[in-house]
Amino acid sequence: MFQPVRIAPSILSADFMNLERDIRLVEEAGAGFVHVDVMDGHFVPNLTIGVPVLKQLARVTDLPLDVHLMIDNPLREIPWFLEAGADFVTVHAEALANEDEMQQAINMIHDAGARAALSVKPKTPVSAIEEFIPQLDMVLLMSVEPGFSGQSYIAGTEDKVAEVVRIARQRCCDPLVQVDGGIGAATAPLVAGAGADVLVTGNAFFKAEDPAKALADIARAADEARARAVGE
Ligand code: DX5
Ligand code: ZN
Repeated sequence: MFQPVRIAPSILSADFMNLERDIRLVEEAGAGFVHVDVMDGHFVPNLTIGVPVLKQLARVTDLPLDVHLMIDNPLREIPWFLEAGADFVTVHAEALANEDEMQQAINMIHDAGARAALSVKPKTPVSAIEEFIPQLDMVLLMSVEPGFSGQSYIAGTEDKVAEVVRIARQRCCDPLVQVDGGIGAATAPLVAGAGADVLVTGNAFFKAEDPAKALADIARAADEARARAVGE
């Protein structure tokens, strides 16, 4: 059945001096999530925002807060983000030492009543998280090397989307499939056609002259591709 794609603007590309104004922009544009990129300067070279900003975001918006943790030692910090109001918490498979740690991360997030996602970087195969797909609310496939906004989409990510959809079907589960990095109106159809449900967009939204129009264009292009893929 056809389900419209949800768009998750990444506030990494927002104007931090006018963050509340930019959150209203995200809401008014009809976004499905606010994507919050947390970087620690270790797991990725960049350093961004963390718990104090998340707490304040939770006070000013009812949109689900989709927290993408690009940090070392996520098991130590996940509780802080849950406490601060995260609705979705995404942890990188590469930041966890083994399957036991992946299971602990998922349990911690679920026990707090939040939604759990695992992510893989472009060079990490889907097989790294395959066993956990039936337990996940969302799978995040990176379509750029994590660390910076404004990079170009890495071609072939759409094949990983199709692989996750295939695995989910085989295992009778239905996690959301999210793609993050270099998504705009030109690349959205590729991943949406392959089965992506949630598209993160940083620069294509916040750096657009008319962000609401940019979001509508991305959503339309994605939905058309999705509708074609399911034959509606
Ligand atoms: C990259 C971040 C992305 C990024 C998206 O590490 O996870 O969310 O900021 O930005 P664009 O859409 O500009 O690639
Ligand atoms: Zn992200």
